[in-house]
Amino acid sequence: MAAMPACQLQSIRRRQWLAACAGAALLPAAGSGTTQPQITLRFSHVVAEETPKGLAANRFKVLVEQRSGGRIGVQVFPNAQLYGDANEMQALQLGAVDLVAPSLSKFGRIGLPEFELFDLPFLFDDLNAVRRITLGPLGQRLLQGLQRQGLVGLGYFDNGFKQMSANRPLLEPKDFVGLRMRVQASQVIAAQMRALGARPVTLAFSETRRALATGVVDGTENPVSNFWTQGMDEVQTDLSLTNHGYLGYAVVTNQRLWNYLTQPDRDLVNQALQDSLGFANQMADTQNDKALIALRLAHTTRIHTLSQAQRDLMRQAVQPVHQELARRIGSEWLQTLREALGQKGI
Ligand code: LMR
Repeated sequence: MAAMPACQLQSIRRRQWLAACAGAALLPAAGSGTTQPQITLRFSHVVAEETPKGLAANRFKVLVEQRSGGRIGVQVFPNAQLYGDANEMQALQLGAVDLVAPSLSKFGRIGLPEFELFDLPFLFDDLNAVRRITLGPLGQRLLQGLQRQGLVGLGYFDNGFKQMSANRPLLEPKDFVGLRMRVQASQVIAAQMRALGARPVTLAFSETRRALATGVVDGTENPVSNFWTQGMDEVQTDLSLTNHGYLGYAVVTNQRLWNYLTQPDRDLVNQALQDSLGFANQMADTQNDKALIALRLAHTTRIHTLSQAQRDLMRQAVQPVHQELARRIGSEWLQTLREALGQKGI
């Protein structure tokens, strides 16, 4: 876990704090400000600027504007300011925005359920295992599938591993019984919650904190950086470090826009994006670690770790979710996945 510099300890307020922690993201502003952009790309996302995705989007803006000498501009709209989970993909298809980076859990609802492979609980041991998929043929095949929706997948990046929260510790399946758990629009995540004994409730990310505060739902799952930057610690008494599943993203653009750009501009935009995603992947783990430190210091939420036996119980309970997905999308996908990860069976 990263040590926290003293200057950062002084500014514990959540947004400023994580922004300060992201020092590497603070590149000089692009250009002299005299060049008017000839092209402006609108990048919409649903999370805070201090999260891995927020940092990646802001980095992308700086790199594109610097490298194009201000000729290509990027406007970033964080926190679902323009579009939320329910409509950002549609907005992209219609050309109302140019880039979005939904979590991989949100592609099922636009007719690409294979992306829900990434949601399988207890699938990845670590981020290296994730990389074997995202950088390998399976990851590329998934991105190519986006063409069916008139979209172009430009690359993957991490947030990290998810933790469970509620107003009680969630250490074993019996702790979930009867809880209404907010989930993303992923059938795999919904099945995971049911397998644990909870009732899944699909809600947009931007509505989650309020739903927790008003008791519409009892708990949720997310990496700590999302939990902290949304102030969910103020409305959840317990965070259990389950590390039970992965949250990652794909950056997606619209086929029409991509064809409209000249090849040199496509290369410039693509390279800036790949550099930003590489940067985000380096930052993601650290941002989650730093958010956990901030959370511990804030004393708002109790933090629990699981014993190996408790983790095993959880892992066992969710195993049927894997077979259920195999039935839905075809077992060939899961076999390919297992082979790529060097695992046996479905
Ligand atoms: C969620 O809806 O919980 C996440 O996908 C939000 C995000 O984009 O990190």
